[in-house]
Amino acid sequence: MNVIVFASRKGGSGKSTLAAHLAAQVHKATKPCLLIDADPQGSLTLWHKLRGTNEPPIKTAVNSVSGIIAQAKRDGIEWVFIDTPPNLSAVVDDAIKNATMVIIPARPGVFDVNAVQETIQNCRSSRKPYAVVINGAPAQRDSVESPIVAIAREALAKFRAPVWSGQITNRADLLMALGHGEGAREYDSEGRAAAEINRLWAAIERSIKAIRGSASASGAMHKQAA
Ligand SMILES: Nc1ncnc2c1ncn2[C@@H]1O[C@H](COP(=O)(O)OP(=O)(O)O)[C@@H](O)[C@H]1O
Ligand SMILES: [Mg+2]
Repeated sequence: MNVIVFASRKGGSGKSTLAAHLAAQVHKATKPCLLIDADPQGSLTLWHKLRGTNEPPIKTAVNSVSGIIAQAKRDGIEWVFIDTPPNLSAVVDDAIKNATMVIIPARPGVFDVNAVQETIQNCRSSRKPYAVVINGAPAQRDSVESPIVAIAREALAKFRAPVWSGQITNRADLLMALGHGEGAREYDSEGRAAAEINRLWAAIERSIKAIRGSASASGAMHKQAA
């Protein structure tokens, strides 16, 4: 079982958005996922209600996730996605301690990039593999990144933070899909939003294989925190 934790002290960075889109993409009867909403704001729970199918199932966590994770393991769940609140509370610590890998979404602004440092520190002190994912970025033009994304990458490089080489663009489709309780692929399987979520998932899977020791870490986006 693999546990993917979405964490960042910054609200609005895209934790709930990425958790919902990735879970919708990954969940299958043969590859059962579990969502854990550890944020009292309940964004993921709201999306799940709009979805109305209970697929993937969702649980809420208040102070700790360990008990839910132990039960998920017994139930044969393959992927657990944990959405966390934008703070450094006990439940965030517990989620990171239980993580196979932590995804830290960050918008490409100076305040946003600066705010990832505490979450990175938390991953490092828990010795957890992690990667920053640039979210809500301006669209590329002719496959060239917006200058603001390039600047964000430079700033993140100064923290020696591993950063996914792709980006999740600011797209109305991602919002529209959430409003329907859907993931990007369910909303428009041929759309650009679905392609980006797909690419992000491929990168996460590559990292997980490397973390599990079943593939080389070369080209994987994460860094084993040390
Ligand atoms: N890539 C994106 N494109 C368009 N809207 C986005 C994107 N990422 C996030 N949003 C929207 O921005 C808002 C904040 O995102 P959210 O996932 O709730 O952040 P967090 O969970 O980190 O607080 C939400 O309304 C969300 O749907
Ligand atoms: Mg949220």
